[in-house]
Order: sequence, then structure tokens, then C-alpha cells
Amino acid sequence: MGTPAQSTPVARLVDVERGLLDRRLFADPTIYDLEQERIFARCWLYLGHEAELPNPNDFVTTYMGETPVLLVRDGAGRLRAFLNLCRHRGNRVCRLDRGNARQFTCAYHAWSFANDGNLAGIPMRQQYARLDPEEWGLVPVAQLDSHKGLIFATFDPEAPPLVEYLGDMAWYLDTLLDRGEDGTEVIGPHRWTVAANWKTAAENFGGDAYHIAYTHSSGRQVGVDTTSDYVRRAGKGWQIHPGNGHVLAAWTQPDEDSGPWFAQTIPEMQQYLRERAAAIERRLGAPRTHILSPIAGTVFPNLSLHWLTQTMRVWQPRGPGKMEIWSWVILDKAAPDSVKQAMRHASLYRFSPTGVFEQDDMDNWAQVSSAARSVVARRVPANYQMDLEQTIWQHPELRGWLGNL
Ligand code: FES
Ligand code: FE
Repeated sequence: MGTPAQSTPVARLVDVERGLLDRRLFADPTIYDLEQERIFARCWLYLGHEAELPNPNDFVTTYMGETPVLLVRDGAGRLRAFLNLCRHRGNRVCRLDRGNARQFTCAYHAWSFANDGNLAGIPMRQQYARLDPEEWGLVPVAQLDSHKGLIFATFDPEAPPLVEYLGDMAWYLDTLLDRGEDGTEVIGPHRWTVAANWKTAAENFGGDAYHIAYTHSSGRQVGVDTTSDYVRRAGKGWQIHPGNGHVLAAWTQPDEDSGPWFAQTIPEMQQYLRERAAAIERRLGAPRTHILSPIAGTVFPNLSLHWLTQTMRVWQPRGPGKMEIWSWVILDKAAPDSVKQAMRHASLYRFSPTGVFEQDDMDNWAQVSSAARSVVARRVPANYQMDLEQTIWQHPELRGWLGNL
């Protein structure tokens, strides 16, 4: 440890046998560039929710890694995604967060693109004798697909289909996405910047249930009861690895009457879930309603969900020491407004820039990232030895591999 990452094979930065991690993974610009190339230019990445683009010509702008992307529903109603890149000099062709437009005109020299990607117009066209408009449309992503309202895309034409990429993780996601026929909708995104490496957050949401009791103990002091519930339930849960780098933590089934236990703290949600319990069970089946209740997880690489507060977020990488957090509250479309509002408040109170828990987490992630920038601190590895000896197993009625929390 301690040599520049350029001269160390990436695989050696993670010592699986001993449970040690080289801190440069959280700070080194070379590693970061490799991530952009090998992860963000290849994996399926979350772009948006279908409910954000209900009508023809709706659009939202987002990012895949550091690449600006334009997600549109074209005039025929088909979802498409393109690099948000003017083919002339490379300006972002659309600067708005969202809207409705048949055409996008670049702010620099006014090249225009239809929302199906075709080049629609160029000022002083006669001076481009060689230009074939067919070749100069917006650059589409390689593949685009959705799962239960969540839209994903990849830049890799060779990537496996989305259904295969999500694999068994989709089965767990559906406990939130598929509770009713009408599906879900989102409020957001709420966006802010944190001086932390994106992986600190992706890792935390995927596999760090044990920080809750300590990091968030101040929440307990002001009466937010996630922490006390964690303490009460400690050891009664599973870490689940459904494959392809996806990961989640789940409680063993909550107490008889409650549905997801977090709902106990939101009377409107508790009531709503109680009323729908039989219908949800018919839809999802007994294992996903009686055996487990997901807490939080990460769809590799940077989409995380917190089932309990119904927050969904993308950790947008912005350099080795910085990320933008894009956060949505995800809600049952068919839920009454009173339930949606109660859930929105409960979620933002806990997870948002001023959220009771988010503030605790962000501070830890920033500290961990800062330590990784110190040439001296990174001479010593980070410890990932917890449960290294634990045997992972398969539950006959669940998917993926399980370890005890
Ligand atoms: Fe877009 Fe010139 S960069 S028109
Ligand atoms: Fe936390």
C-alpha cells in the first residue's frame, strides 16, 4: 500500500482474503477515471421515472456518470435517451431540468435537434457543403429499458438486457415498486453536493446497517425512532447479495400487524398498508410479505433505495472527492394525498440536505473521503473484516445469497 495507483493493478487494492481496502479507491483520480470508463460507460444506470415524462414531448435532463443525458418521450410516445451534446462543438443542447419540447436548439450557434434525435436545422446551412444531416443527429444511448417505472440506460451495446442485469434484485425492488397495479410516482429530484466519494454512499446504503445505532443516535435523542428500532431488532436481519454487485439489507419479517416496521411511525402510512395488506400479499406472495422487509440497498453502481423512508437516490460522481446527491421520494401512485404528503414529510425529515439522518451520514462520508486524500493516512488500509468468516447461505423461499446482519 502507499504507491501511486497508476503502478498498482486495481485488483490488488482490494484484499478479499484479509478484508482490507486501499483508501486510494476513495480518492485517486486514476481510479476515478477508470470507474468512468469501466463502470459508468458500461453499466445500466438509472435515468428517471416514467411518471416524470407522462406526455409526448416531455423531457428531463440527467447524467450517466459525468456524461450529460437528455431523456425524452418523443412525439410518438416512445422513450429515448441521448447524450445531451450538441454535435457541433459540444455544448449541452438542453439546459433545462425538465419540460416539454418537440425540438432543442443549442444556445451557442443554434443547431436544432428534433426530440427523436434527428438534426432539424443549421443556420447558414449552405456553407456546410459536405454535411450529411443523417450523420449529425443526437447520439443515442446504446440500450434503454424500464423496470416497473424506473428507466435505465447503458452506453454499452454489448451489455446484457436490463432484466438480466437487475436479476434477482428486481424481485426485491418490487416490494416497493409493485405493491399495486398503478405502480409508483416520484417527487423530486432534490439535488445537492457533498465533498465525498460516491462509493462511500453507495456502500453505506447497500451494506452498512450497523452504523445506524451509533451514527444516528442523536435522532433517537430527539425522538426519531429508527435508531431504537434498530437496537431492538439488531441481529434479526439479513444482508442479501442478489448478484451483479447489487446488495440490500432486510429485516426478518416485522411484527405481525405492521407491514414495513417504519410505517409504524407514520399513522397514515400504517393505516394505508393495513388496508391493502391482503392485496399486497396476493400480488407479491408470502415470502416478500411474511418473511422479510427490505431496509435499504444499492443497485450497482449508484442507485440506492431506502425502503423504510421511500427515498431513492443516485450518487452522481463529480470527481474523486465530490458527488451530487439526486434524491426522490417514491410513492404508490394510487395512495391518497394524505398518505403521500405524510410519507413525503417523513422521508424529507430523515433523508434530504437537512434530514436528521442524512446530515449524520454526509459528515461521515466526507470524513472517510478526506482521510483517503491524505498520503499518510492511505499508507494504512481500511478495515472490511466484519463477518469475513460468516457462511453465506440460500433461503429456500428467497432469492440470492444471505448473511446474517
Ligand atoms: Fe451547438 Fe455550436 S455548439 S450550435
Ligand atoms: Fe445512515
